[in-house]
Amino acid sequence: MQRIVKALAVAGIALQALAAPAFAADVKIGFVVKQPEEPWFQDEWKFAEIAAKEKGFTLVKIGAEDGEKVMAAIDNLGAQGVQGFIVCTPDVKLGPAIVAKSAANNLKLMTVDDQLVDGSGAPLADVPHMGISATKIGEQVGQAIIDEAKHRGWDLKDVGAIRVSYDQLPTAKDRVEGAIAVLTKNGFPAANIYDAPQAKTDTEAALNAATTVINAHSGVKHWVAFGLNDEAALGAVRATESVGIKPEDVIAVGIGGADSAINEFKKGQPTGFFATVIISPKRHGYETSLNMYDWIGGKEPPKLVQTAGELAKRDDYQTVRKGLGLE
Ligand code: GLA
Repeated sequence: MQRIVKALAVAGIALQALAAPAFAADVKIGFVVKQPEEPWFQDEWKFAEIAAKEKGFTLVKIGAEDGEKVMAAIDNLGAQGVQGFIVCTPDVKLGPAIVAKSAANNLKLMTVDDQLVDGSGAPLADVPHMGISATKIGEQVGQAIIDEAKHRGWDLKDVGAIRVSYDQLPTAKDRVEGAIAVLTKNGFPAANIYDAPQAKTDTEAALNAATTVINAHSGVKHWVAFGLNDEAALGAVRATESVGIKPEDVIAVGIGGADSAINEFKKGQPTGFFATVIISPKRHGYETSLNMYDWIGGKEPPKLVQTAGELAKRDDYQTVRKGLGLE
């Protein structure tokens, strides 16, 4: 009898050992991003891959730059036998359509970076989401700009601010509004803040938007610039360079801290790109993927996670990246 029990116990352990890898091997998780060429999203994918390797699931990466591609991607994932996916959509207003399409394909849905909204612009709070704490990070941007303007001894009435904007995206609006709140609280004249709406959220679109502002205000002595991400701040910097404004007259602060910012810091001479608030592609890629993996296994993810950022400049970005587990 004892021997039988023992044999059964051993068999049980063997079965359990088999069960874990068999589950992992069957798991397929999709990761759909709106701008696959942007270093931030490359990094998210990189960290999602690490989670996939660790757990043994298959990661299906798809770039979807517009609404049609998102819808096609969801059908594609369904057809491949994926159980759940994480998406950063090119348009948050697609919210209800994405939810419906996911349900039709029997896919669990989580969002990253950009939270889905309904027809009236309210966030779809039922869809688990991980985003950055946008207002707070915007405030860090504003504080960095004010501190450096003071350090350079600028009279704020001589300074113009380029607000590279993409207001149809709530996280973008919250970030720039956070920056503006700190600027104005510290005596920056609100009338000197100029909106530069970008058509897309890349460097080229920001360059075009900022150029229009700079050309319209040629009397401005110094410029500061901020926006949704590093690409927005870099576009503004490129615009100042193209009309011959010197780096010492420019303070642009980005958000992200991926290669777009790092490559700028690596340049031989400082540019107008003064700093970035480094956010965590590790959390946004690795943690979301693990959360989805656990969800497929039965454990629901948190409904909302808001991640923090840390300011980094040319001379300390390596230390900050290390501290965040990015190097
Ligand atoms: C948005 C931006 C990206 C990045 C993420 C971070 O999606 O477009 O560049 O800043 O937010 O959450």
